[in-house]
This record gives sequence, C-alpha cells and structure tokens, in this order.
Amino acid sequence: MKMKTLPSVTVLSAILMAGAAWAQAPGARWDAIYQGGAKVPVNPSTLVLEATANLPSGAALDIGMGNGRNAVYLARKGWKVTGIDVSREAIKQAQAAAAKVGATLEANVARFEDIPPARAKYDLILCMYVSSVATKNAAKIIDMLKPGGVLVVEGPHLDARPMPGQEGYKTNELLRSFGRLRVLRYEDKTMQAEWATNADGRSPTVRLVAVKEK
Ligand SMILES: C[S@@+](CC[C@H](N)C(=O)[O-])C[C@H]1O[C@@H](n2cnc3c(N)ncnc32)[C@H](O)[C@@H]1O
Repeated sequence: MKMKTLPSVTVLSAILMAGAAWAQAPGARWDAIYQGGAKVPVNPSTLVLEATANLPSGAALDIGMGNGRNAVYLARKGWKVTGIDVSREAIKQAQAAAAKVGATLEANVARFEDIPPARAKYDLILCMYVSSVATKNAAKIIDMLKPGGVLVVEGPHLDARPMPGQEGYKTNELLRSFGRLRVLRYEDKTMQAEWATNADGRSPTVRLVAVKEK
C-alpha cells in the first residue's frame, strides 16, 4: 500500500508526539496526528474494496472517516457518502482529497455519539479503525442500516497491544456486538494492518462484514 510518508514517523510515534494534545479532546489529538506528518494510510482499504465490489451504490456512512481514503473511493464509484470525524483536520483533508478528484462528499466534524440516529438511512456503514466507537454504538449503527445494508469493520485486536489511548477488540467482541446482523465474513488474524501498531506493520487484526437481513 502506498503511504504518505515522512521519515521514521509512525502513527504511534506521532501519537506519542501529540503529547499535550493527547490529553485534550479526541478531535485535538487526531488533529495533531493528521497535521504532524505521521505515516497514515491514504489508499482505500482492501476490505472495503472487496466488501463493496459487487454492491450496487447507495447511501454510505463512514464513521471516523479520517483523511477520506475510503469515502472518496466510494464517492467516485457513485455512492452518496457522508463522512464524519471528530478531527477538523481529518475533515479538511478528506474534503481536499474529494475536491482533487471531483468527487462529492458530505463531510462533517462530529462525534458519532452526537449525531441523530437516523433510522434505516444507509446501505453501507464503515467503521474502519475506530475500535470502541463501533462496539459502544452497535445498536445505533445497526439501526441506521437499511434492511439489506452492509456493515464493514476493521481494527486491531487487543493482542496487538495498542498504545495508551488506542483500543483493540476483544476476541469475538465484534461478533457479540453485531450478533443481530448476518455475518458474511469474519477474520481474526495477524495481517498487514493498515493503521499499523508495530514497526513491521503486521499485527493482530479483526475484520467483520455483515448484512442486516431484510
Ligand atoms: C485510526 S483513524 C481511522 C481513520 C479512517 N477510518 C481510516 O481507516 O483511515 C480513527 C479516526 O476516528 C476518528 N474518531 C475517533 N473517535 C471518533 C468518534 N467518537 N466519532 C467520530 N470520529 C471519531 C478520529 O478522529 C480518526 O480520524
């Protein structure tokens, strides 16, 4: 995967360098990471590419959209994408990425917890590397999916030993949290993690693709 690189600055070191910002609101801490030149993924996620390859385009919500790597990809494929993120800098970068390729993206600075629980609004919801935001809000996420809508989640397992301030999924936690959905794909293995938690980029990672049955 192509990465936006600055020499030897990993996401984790950027988190540590975020220092005081880390103790502030989550938006400020993520602003510091996105502004700090950390090595963050810029290409769309492999799981998103695979999970959406045969889906008709519709309305999509990208929770914790970051720099818009997945949202912009989907918008270019004809999806009507709403992306939200607590980081102003992330939203700014996502809007710039969309503008650069002429894609339309609704991008809002917001905590997912604070947005209205619009029922059955989305054909696709992404929770890519947002850890507990997905599991703590599982009921709301399921409610926001249309019948037939698909949920895509990826993030570190707890065994990845995420750094303080980061979280990982417990074994089978995603299956428990989203047990009301029909699981199309579930993986729990060490793989090349897109938001790496260690030097070689390989770490215990969990993936879920599930559909809300009609
Ligand atoms: C590790 S990054 C992942 C970004 C993107 N999903 C990706 O895979 O590239 C986590 C993102 O979630 C955002 N975030 C964290 N907590 C959030 C919340 N409660 N609501 C919305 N966004 C949140 C952060 O600002 C950050 O951009």
